Amino acid sequence: MKLRRRTTTSSPLGNLVEAPGGSRKPVNAPRPGPRGWRGPGRGGATYVEAAPEWRATTVQACGLWPFAAGTGSPMTGVPLGRNLVSGATLCCDPISWFQRARLISNPSCFVLSKPGLGKSTVVRRMALGLAGYGTIPMVLGDLKPDYVDLVEALGGQVIRLGRGRGHLNVLDPGEANEAADRLTGTARAAVLADAHGRRTTMVSALLTILRTSPPTDREESILDRALKVLDERSRAHGRTPVLADLLAVIREAPEDVRAVAVDHGRIERYRELTEPLEASLLALLGSGRLGEIFSSPTSHPMRRDRPVVFDVSSINDAETDLQAAALLACWSAGFGAINIANALADAGLEPQRHYFVVLDELWRALRAGRGMVDRVDALTRLNRQGGVGQAMVSHTMSDLMSLPTAEDRAKARGFVERSGMVICGGLPSAEMPMLRSVVGFTRAEEDLLVSWQDPPAWDPDAGAQADPPGRGNFLVKVGGRPGIPVHVALTSVETEKGLHETNARWRVTSRIGASRDQLAALPAHLPATATVSADLPAAAPVSLPADLPASLPAVPDVPALRP
Ligand SMILES: Nc1ncnc2c1ncn2[C@@H]1O[C@H](COP(=O)(O)OP(=O)(O)OP(=O)(O)O)[C@@H](O)[C@H]1O
Ligand SMILES: [Mg+2]
Repeated sequence: MKLRRRTTTSSPLGNLVEAPGGSRKPVNAPRPGPRGWRGPGRGGATYVEAAPEWRATTVQACGLWPFAAGTGSPMTGVPLGRNLVSGATLCCDPISWFQRARLISNPSCFVLSKPGLGKSTVVRRMALGLAGYGTIPMVLGDLKPDYVDLVEALGGQVIRLGRGRGHLNVLDPGEANEAADRLTGTARAAVLADAHGRRTTMVSALLTILRTSPPTDREESILDRALKVLDERSRAHGRTPVLADLLAVIREAPEDVRAVAVDHGRIERYRELTEPLEASLLALLGSGRLGEIFSSPTSHPMRRDRPVVFDVSSINDAETDLQAAALLACWSAGFGAINIANALADAGLEPQRHYFVVLDELWRALRAGRGMVDRVDALTRLNRQGGVGQAMVSHTMSDLMSLPTAEDRAKARGFVERSGMVICGGLPSAEMPMLRSVVGFTRAEEDLLVSWQDPPAWDPDAGAQADPPGRGNFLVKVGGRPGIPVHVALTSVETEKGLHETNARWRVTSRIGASRDQLAALPAHLPATATVSADLPAAAPVSLPADLPASLPAVPDVPALRP
């Protein structure tokens, strides 16, 4: 048999062998790998892009089988961002998860993380989304302020409280009297009784903060009865009482009040018994520690049909008593309004409204004074019946565990335990044992939370630090179920309107270091963002232009400074 000599030629497809008859067949032809031809110029890809994903309903996507995959993340509620593991969208807020998805046992959430990692931002997103669903956001005491821009953008009410800024009369029944006029029978009595009880409690709370001890039983009875007498008179005259009127009634010593003071018919004894009360009420009237904020007529009455924020940011952090009193007054007014709304809805006179109550910076409120833990405690137990969803925000469990008495600590712990969901951002590892005792975390979840609190990297070129790696990352925990890790993505609405900016005060470059003389000598072409510093020319005696403003205008268009 004659063998024909094999001739081979090479081609990009491999060696071609000339078969008998002249045709050429590939032998052991190399094939491209899963990422294409390797080597320069051959188009091989070392990086494979993730396939594009679309979200669709089961009805729309069924024809794509088997390429469809379930998300595993709940899709009911306010869109927060993407699941960090699966990339699926996560929708989450306490009201939708309680009311519609029935995923949690009560409509509340507790948000914990180290400062600056986005707690207020995630709660603000929930408030924004819930407003879209028809729930009314109510921020009862914004100490920073973090929510004023949002509520303004939603067309809501911004009520400013502070020395010389705005007043909240603690004896103002709000809309209770008008609501009572529209109701009958027990509903009417209940609204009036609630308004009365709320106001007596508020006066007692102010006295407690002022004296650092609660009023006696006898004093509470005197206050209660004196307020009833005052209400009858005020309703007859159609005017809202203030604390000075309450003091006047106590001094006047009407029979009803003397009866509960148990003075045995002796006016001298009555004066003796009411003297400490008079002194304390007098202290609440003037410009004392608690200021005139609570004793003057309410400057901006709160409405129950609009988003509302009480801006108490002007109160100095050092004035813990005043902060505590202001927060209590805001909570009292807010929950009073919710009670009225519910009574009118039950009577079929108004639609049932749902509220989303935000208690941000809870640690500051709790630390501010005695009685605060009890007050929040009472509030959190009622949220299901009251048609109220709520979000509490604090830094760490240690804030709650550092309260002075064991009783307060146990109650504060209960806030986290009873919350329908706990949302945790970056936390230090020292927090974990405390947190674990309240919510079940796996080891991997704990490691994740600790990794999110890592400090940001320095950027030596920009001379600034990058964003913290864990900013906007949260783990949503419901009971002992596995947590859902999510990154809260800011939307264009939030970034363009500056709604997320809680560092707004740092947006402009400071220029107040310069004297008026130096400022007058500034060259006209000085760039707007330049910081006036010591290397300015020494101030020459110049005559100031008459129109030089006393304070400098804000520098326009300065890019936001990142911490
Ligand atoms: N998901 C996010 N993406 C980008 N930036 C964010 C995100 N969340 C928050 N930020 C930015 O981080 C800064 C701090 O956010 P935020 O005030 O919400 O934090 P915080 O945890 O409430 O802080 P604090 O404990 O001081 O109250 C803000 O400037 C905000 O714009
Ligand atoms: Mg905050």
